[in-house]
Amino acid sequence: MSTTINVPPGLRNVVVTETTLGDVRGDEGFYHYREYSAIDLAKSKTLEDVWYLMFEGHLPTAAERDRFVAEIAPLRVLPDEVSAVLPAIATAGTTFNPLAGLRTALSLLAAVRGLPPLWDADQARRKADAMLVCAVTPTILAALYRLREGQQPLEPRADLSAAENWLYLVTGAEPTAVHATAVEHYLVSTVDHGFNASTFTARVIASTGADVVAAVAGAIGAFSGPLHGGAPDRALASLDEIGTPDRIDDWVRAKVSAGDRIMGFGHAVYRTEDPRSLMLRDIARGIGGELVDFATTVEQRIVDVLAELKPGRNLYANVEFYAGVVMELCGIPRAMFTPTFAVSRIIGWSANILEQSTDPKIIRPAATYVGPQPPAPVPS
Ligand SMILES: CC(C)(COP(=O)(O)OP(=O)(O)OC[C@H]1O[C@@H](n2cnc3c(N)ncnc32)[C@H](O)[C@@H]1OP(=O)(O)O)[C@@H](O)C(=O)NCCC(=O)NCCS
Repeated sequence: MSTTINVPPGLRNVVVTETTLGDVRGDEGFYHYREYSAIDLAKSKTLEDVWYLMFEGHLPTAAERDRFVAEIAPLRVLPDEVSAVLPAIATAGTTFNPLAGLRTALSLLAAVRGLPPLWDADQARRKADAMLVCAVTPTILAALYRLREGQQPLEPRADLSAAENWLYLVTGAEPTAVHATAVEHYLVSTVDHGFNASTFTARVIASTGADVVAAVAGAIGAFSGPLHGGAPDRALASLDEIGTPDRIDDWVRAKVSAGDRIMGFGHAVYRTEDPRSLMLRDIARGIGGELVDFATTVEQRIVDVLAELKPGRNLYANVEFYAGVVMELCGIPRAMFTPTFAVSRIIGWSANILEQSTDPKIIRPAATYVGPQPPAPVPS
């Protein structure tokens, strides 16, 4: 009989593997990519630099960066077979669901490009497939948005950085330097974040030896849930709902007494302020305006009221609260808040998939059966 080990609900604090990609220290309010503070990287490096760091293990030299940027540019362009079906994907259904559209389009891309299972591919091919998926994702997401809005998708621009290109593809205008920098900081700060649900999902699928898109599509599914990546637009909707500072307390109390979660608050790992939230709050304040003033007032009151209603739980604003504010200030439509998060996180998923693919052990946990005692006779 094999030995089983019972672990805490939600696998909280269960270590399942080793990684050289980074880690989150929940009690310290610190996380890092490889050996660097992610927030320091966000404040000083481009998304391409950090993408290179995650894939290659070190920050690029100037020559390496140039080669990497040149490699990415053509990969941003969609194959015709995928472009052809985007209008149908974008306009399907009564509700626009860009992440569902992304996984659908990526699955087609995998077929068109003949992506081999990770198990059958060498590391160079795995990396090439992951590069393609990361580079083309912004093009797909922005095209889906524009098509849904009845507009023509724009061609990706090789002369723009990843962050500028993303804003250009979504809004149709070249971003200001302030907006491009704000979004770039956000994108770098959300590339990776430990063994969250989507990253773990990607690694489980990668451990089966399936192809890169299979693993990424699973991660997108996990990420789309409101408890994970689907909160920034809901956090902004909360600001609209609250409306004025005098209504904050009543609004929070009503939500909590109804058993609802306040979107953009709380975190599975952080028991202190989320460092991403602190950075994004500074960025929002740097841009300034009524929305930022209101958001900071709301944040403080929500933290205070949650401390009173849920004492000892240490609930603070998470990345998504100010992410929504910053994206709104930068002109990103709300439907594209979570997709913007996906544009950077796909790099983290891919780095995790590449790392996992070098481990031949399939991830296969167990469950405790709690149903009626077997074997029951099968009814005739
Ligand atoms: C992120 C999240 C899923 C983490 O969940 P978790 O690890 O299960 O949360 P915790 O174990 O820390 O919860 C502890 C307590 O705080 C409560 N809590 C956690 N987040 C809360 C929130 N946003 N609003 C109200 N209560 C919250 C829980 O209900 C729980 O209460 P209980 O002890 O009375 O049962 C959760 O905080 C949440 O749902 N937040 C809102 C959604 C969100 O912003 N997601 C984006 C995450 S980056």
